[in-house]
Amino acid sequence: MKRVGILTSGGDCQGLNAAIRGVAKALYVECKDGVEIYGITDGYRGLIEGDYRLMKKEDFSGILTLGGTILGTSRQPFKLMRVVDENSGDKIQRMKDNYKKMKLDCLVVLGGNGTHKTANLLSEEGLNVVSLPKTIDNDIWGTDMTFGFQSAVDIATHVLDCIHTTATSHGRVFIVEIMGHKVGWLTLHAGIAGGADVILLPEIPYNIEKVAKTLSQRAKAGKGFSILAVAEGALSVVEAQMSKKELKAARAAQPFPSISYRLAQELGEKTGQEIRVTVPGHFQRGGSPCAYDRVLSTRFGTAAANLILNKQYGYMVALQNNVIVPVPLAEVAGKLKTVPKDSDVVQSARDLGISFGD
Ligand code: F6P
Repeated sequence: MKRVGILTSGGDCQGLNAAIRGVAKALYVECKDGVEIYGITDGYRGLIEGDYRLMKKEDFSGILTLGGTILGTSRQPFKLMRVVDENSGDKIQRMKDNYKKMKLDCLVVLGGNGTHKTANLLSEEGLNVVSLPKTIDNDIWGTDMTFGFQSAVDIATHVLDCIHTTATSHGRVFIVEIMGHKVGWLTLHAGIAGGADVILLPEIPYNIEKVAKTLSQRAKAGKGFSILAVAEGALSVVEAQMSKKELKAARAAQPFPSISYRLAQELGEKTGQEIRVTVPGHFQRGGSPCAYDRVLSTRFGTAAANLILNKQYGYMVALQNNVIVPVPLAEVAGKLKTVPKDSDVVQSARDLGISFGD
């Protein structure tokens, strides 16, 4: 009997259930009744605390289109994994103990960047780990695409489309704040798909005077409205010079709930234009996966099942040049896939006249 544990960790996204289904169905098809799948609750928390259940085949039916994760998820920061306090011993040791207690042959982990650091550590500690790259941010090293990203692009684009019509009617400037604290893939793609006039990303620090100039020039040219797609983590040129600590302190001292509200005030003062802010927030992570993500999650899921069947452990399944390949966890862990400033996608937006505020 093969015993496989599966967990989803970190921020959720569309396609998690489709990927879980892909792993499970492919294992059942190949192993028939020779496999037991254990669903671990709320990500690493469940493995730390021994909170899991034996899944039934039926649990994996009817979930292809379901948003969220049937297993639950939580954020368990990597930096706290080895921290021992009065409530918890070494979390890695506890996970190893529970893995042994559950008599697992393999642990399947669906997660983003933080999750992969822990997955790699567990693998280095001797557990058999296979992982799948999920996140709306598309920032996992080693894969061209994560599942969840395209669904979130669709939602953020829909928001921009809707804002476009009301912005046009009223002749207003709108800032749409798009998820992504560290990277701007989602903002870049939704910004282009939604016809934004300005796109601000963490990777390309903006100069407020240049952004204001773009808005004023559009107004002068008779364009009554403007749309800015701004990543949560967009940074001004000055902020980009600051350390993490200095930036946190500088932002905390400002009276704005997020970057977009500050931009609205600064740009309103500089241009005299009426500026509104829309923050779709976690809406971007919710609901049914788009068709692309259903296919990608299924491909990742069945590829992970094949790694397990071949006893090929210590890998993340990845998409490279449209082919699914295994990438060693050690190569993935601790690296961030950011938007290259000279990326052809950025260049294409620039060719169109979209401003990045630089
Ligand atoms: O990593 C996915 C993501 O949605 C980011 O885009 C966003 O910055 C962050 O998670 C939000 O985190 P939380 O769900 O903990 O508020």
